[in-house]
Amino acid sequence: MLEVNDVSAGYSLLRVLWDVTLKVSSGERVALIGPNGAGKTTLLRVVVGLLQPYGGKVIFNGEDVTNIPTFDRVRKGITLVPEGSRVIPRLTVYENLRAAATTKEAKDKFTDTVDMLFTLFPILKERKEQLAGTLSGGEQRMLAVARGLILRPKLLLVDEVSLGLAPKVVTQIYDSFKELSGMGITLVLVEQYVRKVLQSTDRAYLIEQGRIVLSGSSRELMVNEYVRKAYLGD
Ligand SMILES: Nc1ncnc2c1ncn2[C@@H]1O[C@H](COP(=O)(O)OP(=O)(O)OP(=O)(O)O)[C@@H](O)[C@H]1O
Ligand SMILES: [Mg+2]
Repeated sequence: MLEVNDVSAGYSLLRVLWDVTLKVSSGERVALIGPNGAGKTTLLRVVVGLLQPYGGKVIFNGEDVTNIPTFDRVRKGITLVPEGSRVIPRLTVYENLRAAATTKEAKDKFTDTVDMLFTLFPILKERKEQLAGTLSGGEQRMLAVARGLILRPKLLLVDEVSLGLAPKVVTQIYDSFKELSGMGITLVLVEQYVRKVLQSTDRAYLIEQGRIVLSGSSRELMVNEYVRKAYLGD
């Protein structure tokens, strides 16, 4: 479904990614782990088209999308839930969802998608008329994920959803990812909460200093000696 081929990218003279290659098949859950500053967010930005790579290609469902704008990639089914809870504080939960439904497909299917989202995150249903700025951190994060889902993505990229949240809330959000996966949505999860994400995904890539240094099944990475020492605190 997604192929990143030999991508190098950065910010003018600061080169951040070096020949990054990865593949995600339809229906998979893939983790992207690595330390602060490794280039995880940069890679997601390249995939959605917020950053143009110096070289390499992004292929989505067999089509080279490297040079098409973000909005068109969204229409084709790629959506990013960015780092931090991006919600609009002075709009209600419902209005936040409405405002995120920017494509024709999202607008046409809005009512059905909202029903699905309220089943997935019942707390958002309860808070439907509440201003997003008054939600708890975890609720805002759920709303941010829901705003991504309102676009009916085939591939959902989520950047550090767990950051700063209590373990219980993280588990709730990861449970929802499991359900999304069951609905056929392909997931790429960037995480520093390495144990959790390896438990919840099929495959994983470890990125360090802009290079993929390790990849394999999430189970393999979980028992890998280097991963255990450096990332799992074993
Ligand atoms: N807009 C930007 N302009 C210049 N440099 C940037 C920009 N965004 C990120 N960088 C730099 O690129 C490198 C990789 O950053 P990136 O945000 O991709 O890392 P990350 O793996 O997502 O880290 P974290 O886990 O802290 O989110 C870092 O050295 C960072 O300082
Ligand atoms: Mg990041």
